[in-house]
Amino acid sequence: MLSVYIKTYGCQMNERDSEAVAAQLVARGYALAPTEQVADVVLINTCSVRDMAEQKAIGKMQTVIGQARKKRPDQIYGFMGCMAQSRGQSLIDQLPDVDLVLGTQKFHRAAEYLDDIFAGRRDKIVDTDVEEDSEAKIREHILPGGGEKAVTAFVSIMQGCNQHCTFCIVPFTRGEERSRSIPDIVAECRDLASRGVREVTLLGQIVTSFGKRDIPLKDGRSAFVQLIEAVHEIEGIERIRFTSPHPKGYGDDLVEAYARLPKLVESAHLPVQSGSDRLLKAMHRGYTRERFVNLVGKLRAVKPGMGITTDIIVGFPGETEEDFADTLSLCSEVEFDMAFGFKYSPRRDTPAAAMPGQLSEELIEERHQRLLTVINDLAARKYERYVGRQVQILVEGVSRRNAARFEGRTSCNKIVVFPGSERHRGQLLDLRIERVGHYTLYGDPAIHLD
Ligand code: 5AD
Repeated sequence: MLSVYIKTYGCQMNERDSEAVAAQLVARGYALAPTEQVADVVLINTCSVRDMAEQKAIGKMQTVIGQARKKRPDQIYGFMGCMAQSRGQSLIDQLPDVDLVLGTQKFHRAAEYLDDIFAGRRDKIVDTDVEEDSEAKIREHILPGGGEKAVTAFVSIMQGCNQHCTFCIVPFTRGEERSRSIPDIVAECRDLASRGVREVTLLGQIVTSFGKRDIPLKDGRSAFVQLIEAVHEIEGIERIRFTSPHPKGYGDDLVEAYARLPKLVESAHLPVQSGSDRLLKAMHRGYTRERFVNLVGKLRAVKPGMGITTDIIVGFPGETEEDFADTLSLCSEVEFDMAFGFKYSPRRDTPAAAMPGQLSEELIEERHQRLLTVINDLAARKYERYVGRQVQILVEGVSRRNAARFEGRTSCNKIVVFPGSERHRGQLLDLRIERVGHYTLYGDPAIHLD
């Protein structure tokens, strides 16, 4: 039996794509190899969002090939995903041992192409073409423990992005926005629920644009809200998450959905990118700082405990000390629960890469450090406030931080570690928070609460 090892870089969408490829290969008779050394096929699923992510994947492939050269001359190598899409054939020119380059609309063809390579029908395969309906092909799941252990699952609802933020390579790597149909997504969620899944995370590069072109408004509600409502109906699904929305796409119908739909978790990842109106405009974000702050206010008016996280880019071309100060002050104003700070990285073919005022690495590094300090201090204070409070978590399984403990997440997306056992898996459990760690809460079952 042939075996495959898949290494994944990047976002949750990439994790989901890898899982779907693994499921497809298993269905075609492949085994999943525990390490790259023993695998017959090594696939690297790549990220292009910053140059560092691309370099990591190339470095990894070089290491794998270097180690295997003598021992595993027949090992097959493939790049897939975003960097495969944007670099195509040039990856084979750079690394001639690579056999397969699979673009972001071709994940479902992995098994077919590997069969061709193993059968000697084809030598090298590069496929980065556009393929109609490919968004509907990311649907098979591999659930741990044959399903009975999986509490949460990712569901891909759409592909691509039409927003064209000036810094972002995603429109080039993921293509135009294409959405799956609501019945198709609901069927997948229903199947997951029947296999024991309690929480689904609806995934896409810009989920707030879901179905915008194909599905008309219903009672003033967007296609995305209609989708959430449909998933909400599914028995067995206790929680619904989604990522990533665009702040601009967060209409009142979506804000209001939090009040109406109890399964919709009290958390939102709202990538703000900058606190400076001047830079938001140069980034082509489509909102102002004021509109963003208003949105946060509306969400907190509906759900005061809402967990709000964000992405921030430091060192966008032309960023002045004043612009950066605006970003820091926005963090203090909003009090994000957590934020990812990204050092600006010029990307091929993006408008920002050709803008004047590119900043030095040193300056970007220095501002990045200052941003992280502010973010971490604000978050630490926020987490501190949880001590003594009662929270409800969905128990996901053994803790990744401490194998002797169990963990789950609150509705507002905070990880809670507690002394649990197998019987807690999949349960909605009330805990009292005893202490806090770095972006982690530690709790005890709340049976002693008054
Ligand atoms: N440089 C740095 N960060 C970027 N991101 C996207 N493109 C770039 C870039 N060129 C960040 C954004 C986005 C997150 C996924 O990656 O903050 O929200």
